[in-house]
This record gives sequence, structure tokens and C-alpha cells, in this order.
Amino acid sequence: MDTLTIRRPDDWHLHLRDGAMLELVAPATARCFGRAIVMPNLVPPVTTVAAARAYRDRIRAAVGDQPFEPLMTAYLTDTIDPEEIARGFEEGVLRACKLYPAGATTNSDRGVSDVARIHPVLERMAAMGMPLLVHGEVVDAEVDIFDREKVFLERVLAPTLERFPDLKVVLEHITTADSVAFVEAGGDRLAATVTAHHLRIDRNDILVGGIKPHMYCLPVAKRRRHKEALRAAVATGSPKFFLGTDSAPHARPAKESACGCAGIYSAPVALESYAQTFDELGCLDRLEGFASLHGPAFYGLEPNAETITLERAPHRVPERIDPEGQDLTPFHAGEELTWRVVA
Ligand code: DOR
Ligand code: ZN
Repeated sequence: MDTLTIRRPDDWHLHLRDGAMLELVAPATARCFGRAIVMPNLVPPVTTVAAARAYRDRIRAAVGDQPFEPLMTAYLTDTIDPEEIARGFEEGVLRACKLYPAGATTNSDRGVSDVARIHPVLERMAAMGMPLLVHGEVVDAEVDIFDREKVFLERVLAPTLERFPDLKVVLEHITTADSVAFVEAGGDRLAATVTAHHLRIDRNDILVGGIKPHMYCLPVAKRRRHKEALRAAVATGSPKFFLGTDSAPHARPAKESACGCAGIYSAPVALESYAQTFDELGCLDRLEGFASLHGPAFYGLEPNAETITLERAPHRVPERIDPEGQDLTPFHAGEELTWRVVA
């Protein structure tokens, strides 16, 4: 098979930032994705309907004529007003809410200190059918960073799912075999996004032969067996797993630093990277479900009507993007990728 035509995919977890960075990165996503769930961890975070609407307008302006629909999310805080969230959902501005445990990752300082504090909003969301999107890591200093996702499942996610049996939940950017098993066992209202990078890198890629800051993200990549579990999960074709890049641009100096930022900028190569992975797994026929069908089904949306075509045409990924401006190093920088989006 040398060409592959699939429904136009969507990205169910994306960081677009703001200002000049937004202008640069939004077109890279819109070149092949029809919609994206846009993360709200700006500074200050998106916590109101008005802020989400204004951000949506800025994103639309940044993509210009490309057919792309930003799906907006609200950033949950300890003091968020359930009425504001309900109004945003009813008005069709807010599609989901994002739970960042306070301190877990980039711009999460204003996140949730204790899930009990947001029980009123979770109750409202469950009643409306509004999905909760979860950054699933505990922040307890006693817990090793490689265990933080697994501990979150036990300490936070399981009790929350039990307390709100109707709440729809997406466990974002899963990195462990434990999360794969947890999601598979969790019934229809629980799903997970899987990034392009967590399907390809393990912790050796970050730490062996010198520290690789461009491979550092959160949740951090784990042991190889966990990567293999993620690959096996997407290869099953289960509708519980769908595409979410977590493409998270940070300028090169912020990555190549004594205290480097977490985030991998994958948007310019994400679909090509997933295609390579599915090809290696011998299940390219399952890429369409993962990239274009399972996400809309979970969110209660129609798949995109248009199609996109990939071709087997090896090409080299640039080392740097906009070196004189935003100065980004993309995922797969300098590597050869097999698949290319042609139309
Ligand atoms: O690596 C990450 N980068 N993980 C996150 O959870 C946030 C993201 C960002 O915003 O940079
Ligand atoms: Zn993210």
C-alpha cells in the first residue's frame, strides 16, 4: 500500500498558545486536522466563556482560510463557577473542561488542589454530558515521577469515576500499561488520547547518550514495556483510544535550559508520525478509526466529511522551524519519515 485515504482527522488534545506562537503553530495543525480540542493553559488560563470565545476568535484568525474548527475547553480551578461552565456548554462555546492537578505541568499553578473542590462542577458536567479531560498525574513530592500516572489512577481517578457514574472522562496522553488496562476496563464513558511521541519514545530516548530536552514532556515517557502497551492498545482498533497529539511548543531556549520546559512540538509531523507507527504495527487500516472516527464518536460529533490522502514518500523533517522567530524544534527533527500528507 503506497497511498492511504482517510476521513480528515481531528486532534483531541492540542496546545496552540497565543500571540506570535499561535500564528506560527495553528496553520501546522490546520494543514491536516479538521478540528482540535484546544487546551486552556494560557497565562492567565481560560476560565470563562468570554475568554474562551475571544481565544477561539484569535485561533480562527490565525488559521485564516483553512477549514479548521477549534473546540474550546475551560481550565478548572478550585473556585470555578459551575454556572459559568454550564452556560459555556449550553451556548456551544465550551466543549469540555480540563483538570490539571495544581503544579502537575506547564501553567498548572491555578489548577485543582483537591478534586473534592470541584465536585459541584463535575456533578453539573455529568448531568449535561460534558466531558472531563484529565491530566492524570499526582503531584505528591513523595511519589516518583515515573509512578505519578499509576498512582493517580488509584488515588484520584477511580474514586472520581465511582462518585460520578455518568461523567464522561478522557484520560489524556496516557503513558503506561496501567492506564491502558484501566481505560479498557472502564466502560464506554471512559476513553484515552495517545500522543504520537508516546507511541515512539521511551525514557531511554530522553536519557541515554546525553540528555535530550526535546524528548521531555509530561507525563514523561516511561519504560519500553509501557510504550509497547500503548502501541498494542492502538493496534487493537478499540474505540476507547484516539488521537491527541499534545503538541506543546516551547521556544528552543526554554527547552535547552538548566530547567527545561515540558512539551514536544509535534503538530507539523504528527499525522505522518502516527502513520509510520501504524505501518510498523501492520495496522494502517486502523489509522482512520484512531485518527478520524473514535474521537468524534466519543464527543458525540459527526466525523469530518472531507478526506485526506497520505503517500509513501520518504522526506526529512527540518531541524528547526522559524529559527529567527519562535525557534521551535519539531518532533522527529532531522529524521526521515516515510509517510507524507499529499492532499
Ligand atoms: O509536556 C507537556 N506540555 N505536558 C503538559 O501537560 C503541558 C504541556 C504544555 O503546555 O507545555
Ligand atoms: Zn497537554
